[in-house]
Amino acid sequence: MIRRRIPLALSCAMLAAACRPGAPVTATNPSPAHAPLVMPPRLIPAPAQMTVGTGAPFAITRETVIRVDNGNAEALQVAEALGTMLRTPTDFPLVATLVPAGSPDVAPGTSAIHLALAPDRSALGDEGYELVVNSDAVRLTAYRPAGLFHGIETLRQLLPVKIESEIGVDRQAWNIPAVTITDTPRFAWRGAMLDVARHFYTVKEVEQFIDIAALYKLNVVHLHLSDDQGWRIAIPSRPLLTSAGSLSQVGGGPGGFYTADDYAEITRYAQARYITIVPEVEMPGHSYAAIAAYPNVACANRAVGSSYTGTDVGWSTFCVDSAATYTMLDDIIRDLAAMTPGKYIHIGGDEVQTLTPAQYIKFVEHVQQIVTSHGKQMVGWEEITKAHLLPTTIAQQWKSDSATAALQYGSKLIMSPSDKVYLDMKYDATTELGLHWAGYVEVRDAYDWDPATYMKGVPESAIIGVEAPLWSETLANITAAEYMLMPRLPAVAEVGWTPQANRNWDDFRTRLAAHAARWNQIGINWYRSPQIAW
Ligand code: ACM
Repeated sequence: MIRRRIPLALSCAMLAAACRPGAPVTATNPSPAHAPLVMPPRLIPAPAQMTVGTGAPFAITRETVIRVDNGNAEALQVAEALGTMLRTPTDFPLVATLVPAGSPDVAPGTSAIHLALAPDRSALGDEGYELVVNSDAVRLTAYRPAGLFHGIETLRQLLPVKIESEIGVDRQAWNIPAVTITDTPRFAWRGAMLDVARHFYTVKEVEQFIDIAALYKLNVVHLHLSDDQGWRIAIPSRPLLTSAGSLSQVGGGPGGFYTADDYAEITRYAQARYITIVPEVEMPGHSYAAIAAYPNVACANRAVGSSYTGTDVGWSTFCVDSAATYTMLDDIIRDLAAMTPGKYIHIGGDEVQTLTPAQYIKFVEHVQQIVTSHGKQMVGWEEITKAHLLPTTIAQQWKSDSATAALQYGSKLIMSPSDKVYLDMKYDATTELGLHWAGYVEVRDAYDWDPATYMKGVPESAIIGVEAPLWSETLANITAAEYMLMPRLPAVAEVGWTPQANRNWDDFRTRLAAHAARWNQIGINWYRSPQIAW
């Protein structure tokens, strides 16, 4: 590998991601005037370390094979995912094989993409990878299969935009530039939330949302599965939740819900992309749909089957002093835990305006016991930090410094500051969709902040990660959702993945501009932010 020579005149923004903003650009060898300028690949999130080679690229051809040199059935599945990604646009066979340990390497001259699990590379962690590309071979190494998966998402971004085509593409060179990348994420939790309660999203739409998350190396998709306007997940022991509680949505549309099979399909689809589904069922507030289905869990009974199609918050609550409430919540959490492969259950807990602090605290502590008894870790919005939390419980900051109370229990925080990463906030005053109670959130707002300095007294070690919520009061389908996600979700993804020292707005906006062609090829709707030179 020839290290790329860096002409002294290059600005930081033009350099590989390892360039530190503000640091002097040094070159080991002054570049001859005629040396070709090698533009660094425009990867998002920027890798932790990248060296761009000056050698010839690797060309994927009809003869290229995908080999898992040291791996297992799961690594082979990742290799298959790479094959699936490449076969349609290239129309090449790209057979993926698991090669037994000790087998000879490919014959010289064989065009091969090698994937390998390396038990001695524990420094790459659960999600990191190393990718070495030169004209002879692509070598992708990881400690765990998730790292291989993130590595193939990097390969995808290194390939021409037409790699996203859903039909075969003629006369295209499928080149991957010579590069060496060693990459691990900054934070373990990199999420996006979709509110399927205010407006219902079909399984296909949720999968489109998961696809976008995977493209940018997110590893959590949090589904907001219940609210005043609808209950969206079948709970076998409580069938009325969906038969009576799912039939409407904001504005009065038909609503909908996921059957157990639908939910299994969503979790399977996410798992294949190394994404954990975190299901949220809201309590004690935001609960009118559940109350309308089972009125005995409300202190004041309401008519069964009535629905709420407005967007006010804070007015509904379960009856927290009633045994019937906890019997139902135990049923719900037990069934949901059994259906959910991931280790988390999110219980909401936000915006309760009708309980005393003592009632609220008692409720949260009781529910925490229920979640734990069913073998899951509880997650809740930052209001839960008023209660005595377990160290395994995770609080999701969204509006204030009150989240810091989690630290006294050793509970970790997910950072979702609404003025930075609430992607349902309008971009500016002219955005037709979205809300603006937390302000306008342009791309730079979503990008240019550091989770470790956002809240006084909350060090990086107390933060498990970052998550971008997308509330859907105004977003009736995935096309509307995409308009709010893109281009801000890639910005949040980089906040979660890339070391702070490697992040730089000017560099990011240059890379982001190059991604629009990819979104167009995939068919993702996006907002043409004036902050980006598209
Ligand atoms: C929230 O935005 N109510 C968590």
